[in-house]
Amino acid sequence: MNAFWRPSGWPPPPESRLRILLLGASGFVGGGLWSHLAARHEVVGTYATRPAPGLVRLDLRDESRLAALAAGGFDLVVHAAGLVPLEQAEADPELAHRLNVRPVEVLLDAVRGSAAKLLLLSSDNVFDGTREQYTEADLRAPVNVYGRTKAAAEDLLLAEGGHLAVRIPMVFGRGPWANTFLARLAGPATAARTDLVCAPVYLPSLGPALSRLWDRTGMLHYGGADVVTRYELMSRVRRALALPTRVVPTEHDGPGCRRPPRLVLRSTRHGLLGPGLDEALAHLAA
Ligand SMILES: NC(=O)c1ccc[n+]([C@@H]2O[C@H](COP(=O)([O-])OP(=O)(O)OC[C@H]3O[C@@H](n4cnc5c(N)ncnc54)[C@H](OP(=O)(O)O)[C@@H]3O)[C@@H](O)[C@H]2O)c1
Repeated sequence: MNAFWRPSGWPPPPESRLRILLLGASGFVGGGLWSHLAARHEVVGTYATRPAPGLVRLDLRDESRLAALAAGGFDLVVHAAGLVPLEQAEADPELAHRLNVRPVEVLLDAVRGSAAKLLLLSSDNVFDGTREQYTEADLRAPVNVYGRTKAAAEDLLLAEGGHLAVRIPMVFGRGPWANTFLARLAGPATAARTDLVCAPVYLPSLGPALSRLWDRTGMLHYGGADVVTRYELMSRVRRALALPTRVVPTEHDGPGCRRPPRLVLRSTRHGLLGPGLDEALAHLAA
């Protein structure tokens, strides 16, 4: 995994071996990061409800355990855990705050004064999706609870200084264990929105990209090279993997949860973009 992709203009630097705490290693994104990081660094990864080989159990609401773990002498704490399904966050804003915002406060307290850097994975859902594209300098205007919790977590982290938040868009690909993305294509029919536009990031590119960015601080964007509708993305993944599902075009908001119509993340702070769809899908299908 990963050997296929080298961002142009970013020759891979020799990665010195770090001690990394990876929160949410059992998740879709966290699993992809685990695949890259555990092969190169000393990584402690966590799960909450979905155990996976080598991971330790952690509930983010167990604040003393979270703080003790984070204070364990790590160089880097990668925070990829929390409440991600937008509808769940919308239905329970208090839980969304407890899982997406409060843990960042606990983590910042735990690593303050130490050498550990916090890398928070944030989301393009902090924007309202009305602009052609978004850079780090653009104003946030979240339209759903999930986006508001991600914006609140960013505020905490940026106010502290010395840490890094990386906003990522929709991620696609195959994880080592949690396959949330491909699960959407598991049924006989898959509804996919024709009115939602994104520049999705291919999961195996994320670990190498973060490794090239994590010496920075503040806010960074990492987006995919190609801009597509959700329908186009799902149709192309279906075709690449020759899946039996039918991808059905749809155009409506789910009950009670608004989604920003166009989310294209671009950076003014670095030139790194994820691989294009052709390259990513060839790798996914190989
Ligand atoms: N997927 C995307 O397209 C996307 C896009 C933009 C940003 N992101 C960001 O990437 C990060 C990971 O997203 P994901 O798609 O990988 O989500 P996911 O598959 O749902 O993974 C969420 C992770 O958080 C853990 N978690 C949930 N509740 C927890 C709790 N109470 N205590 C401790 N851990 C808990 C889960 O553990 P268990 O599974 O073991 O319960 C899992 O490891 C999130 O910060 C998300 O905002 C994702």
